[in-house]
Amino acid sequence: MFMRKLLLLLCLLSIQTAIADNLNGPDLGRPVHRTTIERWDMNIFPDGTGLPEGTGTAVEGKAIYEQQCQSCHGFQGTGNSAEELAGAQHTLTDNPPDKTIGTYWPYATTVFDFIRRSMPIHAPGSLSNDETYAVTAYLLYLNGIIKESTIINSRTLPSVKMPNRHGFIPVKTYPRNHLR
Ligand code: HEC
Repeated sequence: MFMRKLLLLLCLLSIQTAIADNLNGPDLGRPVHRTTIERWDMNIFPDGTGLPEGTGTAVEGKAIYEQQCQSCHGFQGTGNSAEELAGAQHTLTDNPPDKTIGTYWPYATTVFDFIRRSMPIHAPGSLSNDETYAVTAYLLYLNGIIKESTIINSRTLPSVKMPNRHGFIPVKTYPRNHLR
């Protein structure tokens, strides 16, 4: 009789421990600090939401481009080991299409976002916000979209009108039955 009671007690105890363990989760991973999340939470939206403080012009961006980008993207963005970014000879609908920032990208804000999170490819995140604004300005200037002296910052960048801004189909407003 005593043994049975002891067994029952042990059973109840192990169930209780199992429930407590479950409530605490599987104990995988570790807490992430807010500053780590902030480093990854850096999306910039087409309307400019998320753009940081900072400013730059194409004149400043030219020097940064020549030092940090030209080896891969070529003189004035015309391409080298990495794709061309400017200087399209023909259009997107030609065969093959000439895909540059000027012919392809719908939003200037995305150019900033892409560069900030991934370029230069061997040291992403190494450019300051001012440098990223400046090199973005230089690439927009090379594509004939802004003037060399245009000041690019969180207020002016979203208002830059990209030549291919109507070349994309916004998924959000596209009627569902057209996607089938
Ligand atoms: C070591 C070579 C290298 C350097 C230096 C480099 N890039 Fe790139 N870049 C690449 C490669 C490779 C890709 C293609 C990456 C991909 O498609 O995922 C790329 C893609 C890009 C694109 C997107 C092109 C497109 O239309 O798809 C942009 C914009 C860009 N780089 C800007 C820059 C800027 C600005 C710098 C300097 C701050 C820079 N890159 C420095 C190699 C480089």
